Order: sequence, then structure tokens, then C-alpha cells
Amino acid sequence: MKKPRSLKDALKHKLNDNELRLVPRAFDIIGDIAVIEIPDELSDRKHIIGETLIDIFKNINVVANKIEKINTEFRTRNLEIIAGENRTETIHKEYNCLYKLDITKAYFSPRLGNERFRIASQVKRNERVLVMFAGVGPYAILIAKISKPREVCAIELNPVAFEYMLENIKLNRVEVRAFNGDVREITPRIGKFDRIVMPLPKDAGNFLDIALPALNKNGIIHFYDFSESERMSIEKVKKICRRLGYEIEILNSVRCGSYSPRIYRICIDFRLTSQPDEHDRKRDMR
Ligand SMILES: C[S@@+](CC[C@H](N)C(=O)[O-])C[C@H]1O[C@@H](n2cnc3c(N)ncnc32)[C@H](O)[C@@H]1O
Repeated sequence: MKKPRSLKDALKHKLNDNELRLVPRAFDIIGDIAVIEIPDELSDRKHIIGETLIDIFKNINVVANKIEKINTEFRTRNLEIIAGENRTETIHKEYNCLYKLDITKAYFSPRLGNERFRIASQVKRNERVLVMFAGVGPYAILIAKISKPREVCAIELNPVAFEYMLENIKLNRVEVRAFNGDVREITPRIGKFDRIVMPLPKDAGNFLDIALPALNKNGIIHFYDFSESERMSIEKVKKICRRLGYEIEILNSVRCGSYSPRIYRICIDFRLTSQPDEHDRKRDMR
């Protein structure tokens, strides 16, 4: 029998034309778990869809259906298993690193692999790097693995994600100083950094007041945002920094995914050129 080219193709003889039209084109694969969002109209066909996915992709052993939006502080969501083994824990491989996690208890997006590599490859020898909102550790671990930083610190609020991060640090045999708690409380206690990664696109703007004072002069921030365009995210970053009294230089802006059809995940890379005291001094001299 010819191998089906896609999930839709494989379902051709199992669903009618109207149902086929509703089958999602895309799904994520985290470790050996496929995560799909089946529309309500197909809910009585979900097990057939799940079993077909397992039949056609040899690397998938579990199929989970999204049953709610990501909306918690820990950025997690509930899922239902619709085919395969009844579990939500897996190990995901990305750029030669392994990340163990429970997909219902900790955030992880396999779509960000290339973006994490983009950031990790910019880290220079001897830098002190902070990863805020670190999750199960993918940014921090990749940075520690492929670059030569002096130290990588990682802060995560969700205790379950934090425990997985500790396990993943061991699994990948890297050195990362991991902290469980709120970046607002921990960051001011752990010194200054040459680079800070802020992967909390819904809310990172509310933490720049904590990140900027923790950055060395000429230090770099990778700021994530959900917005309609790079221009809007740049304006947002500039406005917040100006209000807080910091001068910055925008280095780069990239689209690295989407949140909804017209809202993108955008990363703004910027350098801190002057701190408030220096800025105030310059203004007073004018
Ligand atoms: C969008 S996820 C990113 C996780 C990880 N960086 C990744 O790429 O997989 C954001 C993470 O920030 C954590 N978080 C939210 N608010 C926080 C805070 N105030 N302090 C520390 N971590 C926080 C959440 O629990 C969640 O794991």
C-alpha cells in the first residue's frame, strides 16, 4: 500500500468529505507525543484521528487533544489522551539536548527550537547569562551546552517545571544555576548579567523594570512579545525603557512563530547603552 502523504490523506477512506475538510493540517510533536487540536465538530471522530496518527508516524506513541487554551500563570493547559499509551510525560530531543517533561504540567513548545539556537549561538565566551521564565530549561541548557558562558542562571516559578529543569540539567550534563521562584524576587539577589533572555511574550514588558537594572552596560536583552509587527514591538520596548530612564540600541527583530492568524511571536534583541544615572547626568549637562 502507498504511504499516505499527510494525516488528511490517511483519513480519506475513514471520514466523509465534510469531516476531512475540518481535520487540522498541523500538529506538534513533543518527544513521542503528538499534540493536536481537533475541532468540536469532529469530537466523535477523535479516536480514529488519533489512531491514524499513530499508524502513520512510527515515532508517535501517544496522541493528546488540546481541550483548553493556555491561560495559567505557568502557561500550561489541560489535554486529553485520545490514542496510544495513557501518559503525558515524554523526553523531547532538540539540537542534541534532551528535555524531559509532562506536557500538562510544564510549558514546552517544539516550534521554538531554531529560535533557541539563534539565541544560544550569540552567547560569547565568558558571558554571565540569565534566562528568566526558564520552564524546563531549554534555553539555559542549550546555551550551557553549545556556548562558553562564565555562568548561566535560570529562574522558573512553576515548581513542577523547575524540578524537570533540575533533571534536564543532569540529563544533559551541563552547569546551570537554577532558581525556583518569581524573577521579581530572585533577579535582584543574583548579581549583574551580560545577557538576559525574557521568553514570556504575553507579559515580558512588565518585567523590564527588573531586567534592566540587572544588566551590565552594553549588555543585551532578548525580549519576546506577541504583536502585529516588529515595528510595534520595537516601539513598545523603546517606550518602556525610556519611561524607566534607560537608553537602548535595537540590534535585531525577528518573527519566530505566531499566536493567532495576525499576531506574531516577535523577539527584539537590544543593547543597553546607558543607565538612568548616566542618562540623567547627560540630560543635566545639556
Ligand atoms: C512561555 S513559558 C517559557 C518557558 C521556556 N522558556 C521555554 O521556552 O520552554 C513561560 C514560563 O515562565 C514562567 N513564569 C511566569 N511568570 C513567572 C515569574 N514571575 N517568575 C518566574 N517564572 C515565571 C511560567 O511558569 C512558564 O514556565
